[in-house]
Amino acid sequence: MKNKLCILAFLLITIAGCSNANTEISDSDRSRLVIFKDAGCGCCTLYSDYAKEKGFDVDTRTVSSMDAIKMQHKVPRNMQSCHTSVIEGYFVEGHVPVEAINKLLSEKPDIAGIALPGMPSGSPGMTGNKKEQFLIHSIGKDGKISEFMRI
Ligand code: CU
Ligand code: CU
Repeated sequence: MKNKLCILAFLLITIAGCSNANTEISDSDRSRLVIFKDAGCGCCTLYSDYAKEKGFDVDTRTVSSMDAIKMQHKVPRNMQSCHTSVIEGYFVEGHVPVEAINKLLSEKPDIAGIALPGMPSGSPGMTGNKKEQFLIHSIGKDGKISEFMRI
C-alpha cells in the first residue's frame, strides 16, 4: 500500500513538472520565438507558419490557459490578442509583423514587450484585406503603453 502511494506521488509530481515546463522559458529558449496558443486556435498556427517562413526558430506550445500566460508575462488587458509569443525576454502579443520583432531585437529597448491588440484583418496569419496601417504598441515594464511602430 505504501509503495503504491509512493508511485502515485511520483507520477503526480512528474505530471505537474511536465505541464510547468510547457509554460516555462528556459535559457536555451531565449533566442527562440516561443508561441503560446490555445488548442482550438487556427490563426495562431498560421502565424507560427509565417514566423517559421521568415526564418525564426519557432517553438509552438499549446497550453490550457492563455489567461495564465498573459498574466505571467504581464500583457495588459487592452493589448491582448489570441496568442502570446516570447523572445529574448520580451513578449510579442498577437499577429505582429516580423518587421516589428526585428526592430525589437536590434534596438533592445528596456521594455516588457510589444503588441498588436485584437486580430486585425490582413495581419500575418489573419485572412482578409489590410485596411489601414497597423499600430504596434510598446509596453513598458511599468505597464506604460506607447507607440512602437506603424507598418
Ligand atoms: Cu489570432
Ligand atoms: Cu493567434
